Amino acid sequence: THTGIRVAAVGDIEDGEALKVPAEITGHGDTIAVFHDGGVYYALDDTCSHGQASLAEGWIEDGEVECPLHSARFCLSSGRPLCMPATVTVRAHRVEVRDGWIWVHPT
Ligand code: FES
Repeated sequence: THTGIRVAAVGDIEDGEALKVPAEITGHGDTIAVFHDGGVYYALDDTCSHGQASLAEGWIEDGEVECPLHSARFCLSSGRPLCMPATVTVRAHRVEVRDGWIWVHPT
């Protein structure tokens, strides 16, 4: 069965912080950023859809992440851009909290 990738223990990612899971571990095309926002975890492709910036290094608040480079904001659950200059959705991945661990299921 497909159980996803165990990326961190609950508590390892502080609220408002994100963890980068390298592509070599995910077996996915991009580094995946795992975000913690108010007790909820989300995962998106780490690279901003507008340019070469790491969303894991952005500002996380209210279910959104703001790109550190040009301040586009993305919905953490859908990856949809919420404002300019980004216009393209970043891929979202399912996150599961199970047995005290955070699991990501790459899309
Ligand atoms: Fe993210 Fe430009 S690189 S908004």
